[in-house]
Parts: sequence; structure tokens; C-alpha cells
Amino acid sequence: MSRVISVLSGKGGVGKTTLVSNLGVALAQEGKNVAILDANLTGANLGLHFGLLSYPVSIHDVMNDDALLTDAMYKHPSGVDIIPASLSIEHIDAEPRNLRNSIDEFLGDKDFVLIDAATGLDRETLNAIDMSDEALIVTHPELPTISDALRTKTITEKKGKNVIGIVLNRVNRKDELNRDNVSSFFELPVIGAVPDNPVVRKSIEAKSPVVLSYPKHRVSQEIRRVSSHILGKRHIQEDNGGIVSRLLAMFRW
Ligand SMILES: Nc1ncnc2c1ncn2[C@@H]1O[C@H](COP(=O)(O)OP(=O)(O)OP(=O)(O)O)[C@@H](O)[C@H]1O
Ligand SMILES: [Mg+2]
Repeated sequence: MSRVISVLSGKGGVGKTTLVSNLGVALAQEGKNVAILDANLTGANLGLHFGLLSYPVSIHDVMNDDALLTDAMYKHPSGVDIIPASLSIEHIDAEPRNLRNSIDEFLGDKDFVLIDAATGLDRETLNAIDMSDEALIVTHPELPTISDALRTKTITEKKGKNVIGIVLNRVNRKDELNRDNVSSFFELPVIGAVPDNPVVRKSIEAKSPVVLSYPKHRVSQEIRRVSSHILGKRHIQEDNGGIVSRLLAMFRW
């Protein structure tokens, strides 16, 4: 059975789509069968992160009962299956629909289905939460963003979903809040702290996730830390020459 994980936040623009695209590829690189689904019906852009610009069928058609989930699925060379939402203005008032039955029926062979949610706590987001069993919460390490994210965490848990942990994004040295502060605020583990770095924007512009364009970069390392956590693996801090990993392997850590 697939693990269906929604990626949520409180505020918008904090890095949900960036995390979904990179985590999807990182899990595929671990040999997992992964689909990523754009549930941001009014602000679709997941496909764009992969250069998927035009597509005949989208999640909107599935929600309208005009297509099956598998008709709206596009394979990326990384192995990830992308289920994009429509970019067309005609679809802007689409009704969100819980596609969980279709996910179970048509994506049952996937190890992971990652759902890129909309911002806030309106019906689009609540629907994304309803479709999933588990959730990740993305936030910047600043109080107003964290406080909004806390509301999302509370509602997600009230709906009986397991919130796996917090992914801090756009972290930099000047932040006043550290991982421990954030972790105790949410009473959840911080499972990744992605640095604020221009490679993220460059990769979006190049339509290729950071883990593909800059696999050794610290941003990619943190994304892999998140994927290791989800897979229940211990993450070994990488270094450019791979010395630490080789030493650890030698001593069978
Ligand atoms: N770690 C990072 N370092 C630098 N820039 C980043 C980082 N993460 C995200 N960004 C920038 O923030 C922008 C917004 O990210 P993204 O689209 O992933 O957020 P989102 O939460 O999905 O937004 P929305 O709520 O609109 O769906 C990106 O286009 C990118 O330019
Ligand atoms: Mg987004």
C-alpha cells in the first residue's frame, strides 16, 4: 500500500512545492516508486518545477470525473510520476474533491504519493489533508510563519493524520530560532533544515530539482535527510570526498 503524505504549511510561499519536487526525486533515487500530485488547484505549479508546461489531462479533469488518475500522470526521467493541476484560468473555480479512493485504486503500486497542498486552511488544503494519512509541515524559522504552521498541525492531527515532522526551509545563520526551539514549539522532530540558498531558485528556473542539478549541495543533503527520516534510515552526514561515509562503513555504523 502507498504511503500518502501531504506537504503543508501555514503561510504561502514557504517551500512546499520545492520540497515535494525534491523529496519526490530523492525517494525515487532510493529506488522507491513515487507519484507527486498537485492539489494546489488555484495556484498550480508543481509541473513547472520539472519543465512540464503543457499537458492534455490534469488533476482537474480527474476531479470533474472526466479522466482517471492514471490518464493525468506524466513520467519524469528521474522516475517520478507527476500528476499536475491545470494552469488554465477556466479551471480556477474547480471544486476540490477527495480522490483517496482513486489513489488507492490507481496508485496502489506506488510506495509514496506526495501531495503538494495549497496555502492556508481553506477547502483545497483541507481536502489535501483528507486525502492523506501522513503529513509534513514546512515552515521558515520565524515566529509568525511558525504560528500559522502550528494551526495547520493542530487541524491535521484533529483529522487523525500523523504529522511526521517539521521541515525548516530557508534557514540561515542569522536566524534567532534554532532547531530545538522549533521542535519544542511544535512538539515534533525537525527532520530537515534546508538552507536559504540561490541554487533553489536557479534549479526552479532550470526546471530541474536541486537534488538533480546540485546533488552534492547542502540543500540536497538536507532533502536527503528528510527522505532518510521518512524511510526510517539513519542519515549519514555527507562530505564532498565521502570520507565520513567510508569511515562509518568501515566500522559498520
Ligand atoms: N531553500 C530555499 N532557498 C532559497 N529560495 C527558496 C528556498 N525554498 C524556496 N525558495 C524560493 O521560494 C519560492 C517559493 O517556494 P515554493 O513555491 O516551493 O513555496 P510554496 O510553499 O509551494 O508556495 P505556495 O504557497 O504559493 O504554493 C521559490 O520559487 C523559490 O524561489
Ligand atoms: Mg506551492
